[in-house]
Amino acid sequence: MAAITMKDINKRYGDGFHAVKDVSLDIADGEFVILVGPSGCGKSTLLRMIVGLEDISSGELRIGDERVNEKAPRDRNLSMVFQNYALYPHLTVYENIAFPLRLAKTPDKEVDERVRRASDLLELNEHLDRKPANLSGGQRQRVAMGRAIVREAQAFLFDEPLSNLDAKLRGQMRTEISRLQKRLGITTVYVTHDQVEAMTLGDRVVVLRRGVVQQVASPRELYENPVNLFVAGFIGSPPMNFISATVVGDRLHTPFGEWTLPPSRSLDLSGHDVVLLGARPEAFEDASVVSDTVRDHGVVFDATIDVTEWLGNEQYAYVPYEAPEDIRNRLADLERELDSEAMRTQLVVSLDASSRIAEGTPASLWLDLRRVHVFDPESETNLTVQAMQERGEQAPDAAGNGDQPSPAASETGEAPTLP
Ligand SMILES: Nc1ncnc2c1ncn2[C@@H]1O[C@H](COP(=O)(O)OP(=O)(O)OP(=O)(O)O)[C@@H](O)[C@H]1O
Ligand SMILES: [Mg+2]
Repeated sequence: MAAITMKDINKRYGDGFHAVKDVSLDIADGEFVILVGPSGCGKSTLLRMIVGLEDISSGELRIGDERVNEKAPRDRNLSMVFQNYALYPHLTVYENIAFPLRLAKTPDKEVDERVRRASDLLELNEHLDRKPANLSGGQRQRVAMGRAIVREAQAFLFDEPLSNLDAKLRGQMRTEISRLQKRLGITTVYVTHDQVEAMTLGDRVVVLRRGVVQQVASPRELYENPVNLFVAGFIGSPPMNFISATVVGDRLHTPFGEWTLPPSRSLDLSGHDVVLLGARPEAFEDASVVSDTVRDHGVVFDATIDVTEWLGNEQYAYVPYEAPEDIRNRLADLERELDSEAMRTQLVVSLDASSRIAEGTPASLWLDLRRVHVFDPESETNLTVQAMQERGEQAPDAAGNGDQPSPAASETGEAPTLP
């Protein structure tokens, strides 16, 4: 097991395409890091450079305390699990797991010990004599992981290992990988474009956009304090709502009325004519179910709900609204780039399951202004998070990573290093 350190890593492909740009990242020994981003953002390229399947154009890669740029893949002693986990169909599960040990001419007794230890861990004991064709997708996945485990590699690297599985199995495997990683305590880098996987699996998540790191943070930090529109729109489902607002002094003119941010969220917006307000669905509520003490922290406004979706424990309501054309275009661009759910000019609000608001009727909604973010539509920066960082406020990070430096600060260079 080892730490993985990347310093200003770049990848230029033969045809000149600059796929990975100045990526610097410190992955601690035993840490579980997720690389996430839309298709083509450079996730696989970065992973393949770590494993050694792709040359590093510039920058330095260290595994443990050793520079490995020039090392062949087999000398890096990393274990990679791919999307289609190439099992040998003619070999049994046992021999599939044993494969790397056979290659290394490991004595039979040791092979047997290691395979059985891995199969215990992966609960594959009753399948050891079977062929991969007769296994379920999840079992095959575990065999592939078994092969990675017996090698006693320095780190596990996964490239979208679950993308071939159906939704239910994916959920199960996700939990299983997470559990296994904790049990083994092995440094893991995991690529996915699925933001749910990103949020549930990792200690830290690296969000990539066109080869550039946007933010490195715990899932909770990404969710609560995304540094820009891209991260805000990518993380979270349904996505964050964006509402255009015209700045008039300290008042924000929105399609839903005039709002003033509370002191905890106030910002110097001089120099900005138009901003985008970001609010997660759960920052809204049916005004009639909000208690009087809480109500004062937000605003109540009228809206017409066009669709509601009741999910038993919660419900979503959709509120279309008008926005200026350039804002609409910007949101549409972002939506295309994120390859995501619609970020149209509609609010998706989460309401208490007890709410009786009906479709097609005017309703009174409440928005918690303490949970609103202000974005600059030009630079796409989250001005609220920027101001927090400038004030030196440690962004609240309840994920228990208290002793890690704020990754957004140290690794993207977008903010001062926090104490
Ligand atoms: N051999 C190559 N030559 C030139 N460009 C390449 C090559 N391989 C990949 N690219 C480009 O580099 C970019 C990053 O590719 P990469 O495979 O790393 O994306 P990704 O983030 O893994 O996407 P996906 O989610 O679709 O797997 C893409 O724009 C791709 O077209
Ligand atoms: Mg890929």
